[in-house]
Amino acid sequence: MALLAPSILSANFGNLDKDVDMINSSEADWFHIDIMDGVFVPNISFGFPIVEAVNKKAKKIKDAHLMIVNPDQYLDTFKKLGVDYLTVHYEACTHLHRTIQEIKKLGMKAGVALNPHTNINLLEDIIEILDLVLVMSVNPGFGGQKFIENTYKKIGVSKDLIIQKNSKALIQVDGGVSLENAKKLADTGADVLVAGSSVFNAQDPIQMIKDLKSCTI
Ligand code: DX5
Ligand code: ZN
Repeated sequence: MALLAPSILSANFGNLDKDVDMINSSEADWFHIDIMDGVFVPNISFGFPIVEAVNKKAKKIKDAHLMIVNPDQYLDTFKKLGVDYLTVHYEACTHLHRTIQEIKKLGMKAGVALNPHTNINLLEDIIEILDLVLVMSVNPGFGGQKFIENTYKKIGVSKDLIIQKNSKALIQVDGGVSLENAKKLADTGADVLVAGSSVFNAQDPIQMIKDLKSCTI
């Protein structure tokens, strides 16, 4: 069964506690926390005070996805805020190996996210030290976008590379995940599914989380 990480980007920020409680009481596995700086992506999400508020209440793994330039200057702050998995973008890191080493040195699991146009094989020389590969299935920046079908191929390439290099990295998929594609994503090799609008726009988000997970068996 795939792990499920609801994205709090789609939560109600007027009553965040309620949505964090909902995730706590659901079958969800991780909290997915999207940080956007308005530079790397054409949108700004939220900053440290929100991450702090969520993390204080969240009782599951905290998975932060940094869609920001120069992530290096904030790695220790995310550690202090209780983040477990910290993912940076391949396209935003000139010295990716150094950044990944730093994340691990701080005691967090390290992930790399790739935009839809970025070839998975570019991770060939770093995959051995990664804990997570985030295959973006939409262009990052917004919730509620349409899933890009080429993602299945990229999951397959990720899986092959992970096996070939004897890596322990999990494959995460983020963007446009719903009941329509969750099973195929898991069957293709996705270990962790991020879901924003499909969970929070559902009439019964707790049931939707359950259904998204159970359809991947
Ligand atoms: C997009 C974010 C996603 C977003 C997914 O840039 O990284 O995590 O919240 O939202 P949905 O599931 O609505 O596509
Ligand atoms: Zn994300």
